[in-house]
Amino acid sequence: MNDFPTFLADVRPAIEDSLDRLLPKATAPPARLHEALRYSTFAGGKRVRPALVVLAGETLGARRERLLPGGAALEMIHTYSLIHDDLPSLDDDDLRRGRPTAHRRYDEATAILAGDSLLTLGLTILATHPAAAPPEQRRRAVEMTGAAIGTLGMIGGQVDDLAAENDWPEDAAAALDAIHRRKTGALLTACLRLGGIYADVDEERDGVLTALGVRIGMMFQIADDILDVEGTDGTLGKTAGKDAAARKLTYPGLHGLDESKRMLARTRDEALELAGVLPSGGGLLPSFVHYLSRRDH
Ligand code: IPE
Ligand code: IPE
Ligand code: MG
Ligand code: MG
Ligand code: MG
Repeated sequence: MNDFPTFLADVRPAIEDSLDRLLPKATAPPARLHEALRYSTFAGGKRVRPALVVLAGETLGARRERLLPGGAALEMIHTYSLIHDDLPSLDDDDLRRGRPTAHRRYDEATAILAGDSLLTLGLTILATHPAAAPPEQRRRAVEMTGAAIGTLGMIGGQVDDLAAENDWPEDAAAALDAIHRRKTGALLTACLRLGGIYADVDEERDGVLTALGVRIGMMFQIADDILDVEGTDGTLGKTAGKDAAARKLTYPGLHGLDESKRMLARTRDEALELAGVLPSGGGLLPSFVHYLSRRDH
């Protein structure tokens, strides 16, 4: 199998099953909070991040069952970032994954605490799974992920994204790249590197995974910016056109749609070159890069 969409469809049930087993039951107290965790987690996300952990790890020699808990952990952390991203004080969105956002469906306090819970649980899973893995491997997983999603990574990108609203910085193109590299690229890079950690790769290979992750992250957010302009609420499962309305600093906003698409294609070519340095997993990695360059939701 060398086609990423087929791979995604194949691995998806196991990802859903891991998430289900690792999340607290909806009936366990505090039940309303646990229900909210499941509401946001099982709302129909694409599961690109856990699939990427599995793809990278399997390609580099790790077994699937050892990769699934870490993949689920990063999907929980991703879901936390979306719940908080949608809050009124951040992007103020009403629709996510085709449903009312967590603070709309429940209330703002529950949404904040549900995000806190998914972050906490995600890091705890990385520290404890797979139980049979050497403790040093789990320590590296926590340390690498913590750095990726912290103030020098995802959160820093979110801070600068919000600060740039209405008030674009002077060197806007460089600032925009730095925002995208952190707010979206850091976690996607962590997915590739986590697969590498479970496959016990050396530093050189980790460097290639990091360089590839940076391109993949950039592609993902350029495409997200383009979709915000070209997509619809129905296809995206979130409110289209929000970036321009909020005067966000985005690729189409700064460079225009056509140039954004050219930049996406250039980043795709860089990513393909880097993917060529790694074992291709029967062509799956290059297929994933193509999937990102053409995705429509
Ligand atoms: C949305 O991520 C947030 C960004 C980083 C652009 P996805 O497009 O992967 O959202 P889901 O997980 O499929 O809902
Ligand atoms: C989200 O970026 C990045 C994180 C959640 C860390 P966006 O704000 O562009 O994502 P969407 O468009 O709301 O999914
Ligand atoms: Mg945002
Ligand atoms: Mg947003
Ligand atoms: Mg967006």
